[in-house]
Amino acid sequence: MIDHLEDQLVPRHIAIIMDGNGRWAEERKRPRLFGHKAGVDSVRDIVEAAREIGVQHLTLYAFSTENWNRPSGEVSGLMGLLKTYLSAELENLRSNDIRLRCLGQAERLPMEVRQVLEQTIADTAGCSTMNLNLALSYGGRVELRDAIRRIAAGCERGELNWEEISEQTISDHLYTAGQADPDLLIRTGGEHRLSNFLLWQASYAELYFTDTKWPDFRKAQLMEAIQVFNQRQRRFGRTGAQVQGEAGK
Ligand code: IPE
Ligand code: IPE
Ligand code: MG
Repeated sequence: MIDHLEDQLVPRHIAIIMDGNGRWAEERKRPRLFGHKAGVDSVRDIVEAAREIGVQHLTLYAFSTENWNRPSGEVSGLMGLLKTYLSAELENLRSNDIRLRCLGQAERLPMEVRQVLEQTIADTAGCSTMNLNLALSYGGRVELRDAIRRIAAGCERGELNWEEISEQTISDHLYTAGQADPDLLIRTGGEHRLSNFLLWQASYAELYFTDTKWPDFRKAQLMEAIQVFNQRQRRFGRTGAQVQGEAGK
C-alpha cells in the first residue's frame, strides 16, 4: 500500500470533513446511524493509514456546532458512538503513539463523553508520532470569536499590547495553537463547502473534494488524495516560475 507513495510528499497536516454517512445509509435503506457506525470503521482505517505514512497532524471533523440542531435521536446516537469509539481506541492510540486532542467546545458534550475524552487526552499526552485532532462541537467562527475574546482580555490585563497583535498571536489563541496549518483539506460526500471548518487555518490548504461518501473512504482513497495533492503547485501568491526556481535551488 505504501509503495506508490515513494517520492511523494506526505502532507504534514491533513484535515478531513467526514461527510456523507447519512446518505450512505439512506442508499441502503438503513437508518442514518447505520452510516455513522460504518463511518467509525473509516476513522480507524484512516487514522492507521495516516500514522503509517508519516502524517504529523490529522484533524477529523466529527461534529460541528451546527450539528447540535439535528434531531435529538441522531445527536444522542452520535454521542454514544463517540463514547464507544474513544473507550475502544485508548489502548490502540497509546500503542501506536498517537496523541489525541479535541478541537471545539468540549464543555457542551455530555458528561460521560467528556469523561472518556478527557481520560484519553490525558493518557495519550506523552505520545508523539502523530497528533489526532477530533473536531467535536467545533465551529470555526466560535473558535475565532473565543480567540478574539481572550486576546482582548489579555490586552485589558496589560499582558498584550493591541498594536503588537500579529497573525501569530491569533494562531496561538486557536484550538490548534502550536500545530502547523493543514496542507491538505479533504471533504468526502460530494459537497463543495467548508461548513465552518478551520476557517483561519485552511487559508492556504489544498482543497480536495470527492463524491465518495465517508464510509467508503479508506486507505486507497486517502492515497489517491495524496497523489492529487502532489500534482498541485503551491504558490502562496507567487508565480509558478518563482516556485520552480526555488525548487531547483
Ligand atoms: C457526516 O455525515 C457526519 C456528521 C456530520 C456527524 P452526515 O451525517 O452529514 O451525512 P449526510 O451528509 O447527511 O449524508
Ligand atoms: C460538516 O458536515 C460537519 C461534519 C462533517 C462533522 P455537515 O453535513 O454537517 O455539513 P452541511 O450541513 O452539509 O454543510
Ligand atoms: Mg452531511
